[in-house]
Amino acid sequence: MTTFPVSSELERSLIARVPHQLLLADGWVDSADGSTFDVIDPSNGQVLAAVADARPADGEAALAAAHAAQPAWAATAPRERAEILRLAFELVTARSDDFALLMTLEMGKPLAESRGEVAYGAEFLRWFSEEAPRISGRYSTAPDGRNRLLVLKRPVGPSLLITPWNFPLAMATRKIAPAIAAGCTMVLKPAALTPLTALLLAETLREAGLPDGVLSVIPTSSAGAVTGPLITDSRLRKLSFTGSTEVGRRLIADSAHQVLKVSMELGGNAPFLVFDDADLDSAVDGAIAAKMRNGGEACVAANRFLVQRGISEAFTKAFTQRMAAVTVARGTEPHSTMGPLVDEATRQKVAALVQGAIEDGATVALGGRSLDGAGYFYEPTVLTDVPHTARILGEEIFGPVAPIVVFDTEDEAIGLANATEYGLVAFAFTRDLNRGLRLAEQIDSGMFGLNAGVVSNPAAPFGGVKQSGLGREGSVEGIDEYLETRYVGIADPFAG
Ligand code: SIN
Repeated sequence: MTTFPVSSELERSLIARVPHQLLLADGWVDSADGSTFDVIDPSNGQVLAAVADARPADGEAALAAAHAAQPAWAATAPRERAEILRLAFELVTARSDDFALLMTLEMGKPLAESRGEVAYGAEFLRWFSEEAPRISGRYSTAPDGRNRLLVLKRPVGPSLLITPWNFPLAMATRKIAPAIAAGCTMVLKPAALTPLTALLLAETLREAGLPDGVLSVIPTSSAGAVTGPLITDSRLRKLSFTGSTEVGRRLIADSAHQVLKVSMELGGNAPFLVFDDADLDSAVDGAIAAKMRNGGEACVAANRFLVQRGISEAFTKAFTQRMAAVTVARGTEPHSTMGPLVDEATRQKVAALVQGAIEDGATVALGGRSLDGAGYFYEPTVLTDVPHTARILGEEIFGPVAPIVVFDTEDEAIGLANATEYGLVAFAFTRDLNRGLRLAEQIDSGMFGLNAGVVSNPAAPFGGVKQSGLGREGSVEGIDEYLETRYVGIADPFAG
């Protein structure tokens, strides 16, 4: 493991080793017009690297490669695809230090969190290496006893994968691994803020044996211009997107042209409920994990703390103390427990939400300010006395800000938790198992953490209801997003 502190020489040599070009069927190439865009270190605003900036012609070339490679790739043995994934898992794990440092540099999270993401992201490769050989169908007799019904699973076909900046490795492997397992070819468009991790992952997958054309990677500063024509191109069959609900809605509408199979992991507004009977220490631990993982820049981050009146004072005091102990510093610093926000626009949005909450009547119990100096740092922030109607409760914060709202009854808490168009995840802390199960059944969310502040797990179906998305990633469900069902009707084999 890397010893601290990370030296800028180590950083420079890592950046120099990572591919900076597009990956197309011919290998690593410059963009069609030779243009590049800068990748910025959010901890100081300095340029880390210039990366090839895909143009529409590059997107077209990527899709052409995916389309050409699809038949041969679909015909490979599941075991062959499994072994590529398994080797990719080994290689990513062996390169944990490189992936972790790269993510810290381009996204900002502390190294310890980046290492956690490497383990999480690599696990999708291992999990789906185990799922590839288990793709199966069924053979049955029709109810009238005559015809036979054969049901097959087939790869859906060339897939466009659009990934976000907040988990640059794990969100890529969560899409790429099931697509490989299912036998789909892919075009990956990573976030422009964090393309380096995706480029290193692509190189690693090639080393693991992924054939040319199966995966293209097209970082671009012109997402709409490059991906728009692909989504309406009849060679594409699948779109998987992780990002905001606003963009997801537009992509779903665009996908209607070709009636694409879509998977959408969209925004969240997770309620975090603490009941009077909760274990205070574990509720505070869970709250810190749910709020501060990734500095709050996660769609599963706790967005609203709903705390029952009897425990509210003790919870607020203990939670605020823990938030005050968070050390804000560049993610490569040994003592850093929270890095910068990803860019200035994100920081300004967080600051505006806090200002709006104050105008709506909230009290700042901790933080509430951008930090002076270079980089996009924002203080861990706790807001109390937040009225039920405050605007911040309806918005995805994506930053280290915790609004606390007090409630009295279980019914009131459920009503507050469900008062949102989102439904990704909810968390609840209570010692009453029956209450926990009632909440799990009555709160509208795709995922529910019962006395747990983190639910993400490659073996679990990740995804939301309502405007938080469509489909599931990870688990046994994850591969279905890349498979379609084919039915073969067979005449009665015993009829003359
Ligand atoms: C996300 O925030 O987009 C995903 C987080 C996770 O997988 O835990």
